[in-house]
Amino acid sequence: MRILVTGASGLLGLNLCLGKWDRHTLVGVDRGKLHGTPFELLHTNLTAPGAIPRLIESSRPDAIIHTAANANIDSCESDPEGARLLNGEIPGLLAEAAANASIRFLHISTDAVFDGTKDSHYTEEDAPNPLSIYARTKLLGEQNVLSANPQAIVARVNFFGWSLSGTRSLSEFFYNKLSAGEPCNGFTDVYFCPMFVSDLAAILIRMLERGLAGLYHAVGSEALSKYEFGRRIAHQFGFDESLIIPQSVEESGLKARRSHNLRLSTHKLSTDLGIAIPDVSTGIAKFYTQYQQGYPQKMRSYQQ
Ligand SMILES: NC(=O)c1ccc[n+]([C@@H]2O[C@H](COP(=O)([O-])OP(=O)(O)OC[C@H]3O[C@@H](n4cnc5c(N)ncnc54)[C@H](OP(=O)(O)O)[C@@H]3O)[C@@H](O)[C@H]2O)c1
Repeated sequence: MRILVTGASGLLGLNLCLGKWDRHTLVGVDRGKLHGTPFELLHTNLTAPGAIPRLIESSRPDAIIHTAANANIDSCESDPEGARLLNGEIPGLLAEAAANASIRFLHISTDAVFDGTKDSHYTEEDAPNPLSIYARTKLLGEQNVLSANPQAIVARVNFFGWSLSGTRSLSEFFYNKLSAGEPCNGFTDVYFCPMFVSDLAAILIRMLERGLAGLYHAVGSEALSKYEFGRRIAHQFGFDESLIIPQSVEESGLKARRSHNLRLSTHKLSTDLGIAIPDVSTGIAKFYTQYQQGYPQKMRSYQQ
């Protein structure tokens, strides 16, 4: 398959495009941040007038993985209209254009669509109730995608890994602080199911290969608090775990409201793909292996 990946300079998009895919060719779409990448690159601002039909016409893919978004929860609070356009409207327009051209479409959404009041894992059947502008606009994106293109896949994700800026992921936040010997906060009252980004990339490709359609939870198999996640990163890298200060998210001063429970069930995904979903411990070990192999530096050499 020739697979177009939007958001190629982003945490998920870049790791997807840098993956080794024997049977597929990945083509990245960015806004001009990248150069010299080992994959084909197209430059497009998705919100520019006429950009979507031009992109589809010029790239002629078999499938699209749409990762581009305003994924910064607090910046969405300051720009609700921009967030609505990029996270809510653009996905629907892309999904419609893909359906009209018989191109498979996989849209990336978020675990944050839930308010966190359930005391167990959320399934695809549970009703979302977004708490922030980011989450509201991402839910709108899901709805627009599935109404324009019922054969599309919508994957609600949560992931960690190395990024172009070195600051995009929670794993990098802990790495940056702890490697500098600086104290940092870890939320004890936010539970989530993070998946290593390269594991997620492989799962997304498999979802396309298997011809899945509809809504899926594509997160890690294990739930833990953000504090515990930080401790596991510290342990893996041999950093001082006591630098991580347990804190409540309610005391954090963050702008947007956050859910306390982002545990998502992966039962449907695991059943339909016929695989075990990767856990966070093996993901953190792979994150460390990439560090030892100089992957973060290699990745940053592609920045203009
Ligand atoms: N990170 C997480 O743990 C997490 C959790 C749940 C869901 N998600 C979802 O996963 C997806 C990927 O997130 P991420 O963390 O990889 O995001 P990211 O690192 O912030 O990357 C966002 C990407 O979107 C691109 N973009 C923004 N505006 C654009 C526009 N107008 N036209 C074209 N491209 C544009 C950015 O390009 P520039 O580099 O040029 O700005 C960048 O490549 C998003 O849909 C997000 O909502 C992420």
